[in-house]
Amino acid sequence: MKILVTGGLGFIGSHTVVELQNVGYEVIVIDDLSNSSEKVLDGIEAITGVRPIFEKLDLREKSKVQDFFKRYKDIDGVIHFAASKAVGESVENPLLYYENNVGALVYVLKEMIAMDKANFIFSSSRTVYGRLDNRPMSEDLPLMPAESPYGNTKKIGEEILKDVCKVNTNLSVISLRYFNPVGAHPSAEIGELPLGVPQNLVPYITQTAMGLRDELSVFGGDWPTKDGTCVRDYINVVDLAKAHVTALRRLLDSKNESNFEFYNLGTGDGNTVLEVIESFERVSGTKLNYRIVDKRPGDDAMAYADTRKANEILGWKAESTLDDSMRSAWNWEQKIRS
Ligand code: WQD
Repeated sequence: MKILVTGGLGFIGSHTVVELQNVGYEVIVIDDLSNSSEKVLDGIEAITGVRPIFEKLDLREKSKVQDFFKRYKDIDGVIHFAASKAVGESVENPLLYYENNVGALVYVLKEMIAMDKANFIFSSSRTVYGRLDNRPMSEDLPLMPAESPYGNTKKIGEEILKDVCKVNTNLSVISLRYFNPVGAHPSAEIGELPLGVPQNLVPYITQTAMGLRDELSVFGGDWPTKDGTCVRDYINVVDLAKAHVTALRRLLDSKNESNFEFYNLGTGDGNTVLEVIESFERVSGTKLNYRIVDKRPGDDAMAYADTRKANEILGWKAESTLDDSMRSAWNWEQKIRS
């Protein structure tokens, strides 16, 4: 079975390539290298012993997408990660996000609907729900207006997929709505590539512990939570990668109940920022330098997943603990700085 992974050298993409290879799929990776590096191929090969076929390609170039699918006619499934994902940047440069996250999706779909059976896994996000919800977020929550152009591109992406699936019954789609992906591969051969100042909590923690940042600013200490800091659902990246393989297998085996399905991917547990810091300090044996400061605009108190649908229907459940994720994130940070 040949699987195309777009954005396959990115954080979640590269971990998914490893899990696909681990169960015997032949993987073709497309990446434009805008937020990754070809060195990730070395990491994947170091883990699995197999170097995936790689094509550097910008999916915003329609003719290049058409040419690719002319050269690879026997693709059994596509996992589509390729997208820009920085919330703040999307506010500054919305057209970049609409062109890359929506335009490229349309070009890939135009090629896929020509296939006899097209299986498509879409990388989505809990941001499609709009405002956070201070209780477990389930898939039947109404989708509110997106909080950012980035979140809107994921909402629009799902709407496009729904509309296209209605008239192209040869296309089957599963959209996976991530909560907060964290950690790295236990081998420390692949992980989250740090480009610029980290926006997300865990890379900022590991870079602070490494001495690259002076101190972590904890955004708000008087939220209505157990210790006053925000609660999020930190899902281990390897567990997340395995969910993509499970979802793909569901489509390949035609086990899906409709040709457009969607699932939340989280642990179902929420952890506060201080609990994440405590976990990191415990597994790293280091004391983290942090200070509680004002709240960050756009944040809200709690966001964590109701994972019953993924557990009971998709047949996937997160297995790693927060300590596992902090340990692998720390090992990765130390490895790339060594
Ligand atoms: C987590 C918690 C912060 C940094 C984002 C995107 C979302 C999704 C996941 C793609 C929050 C706190 C953070 C820091 C802090 N990405 N924090 N100091 O905001 O939950 O979600 O990533 O789909 O679209 O919005 O993740 O890692 O930025 O923050 O205190 O330096 O850590 O307040 O409570 P977030 P995050």
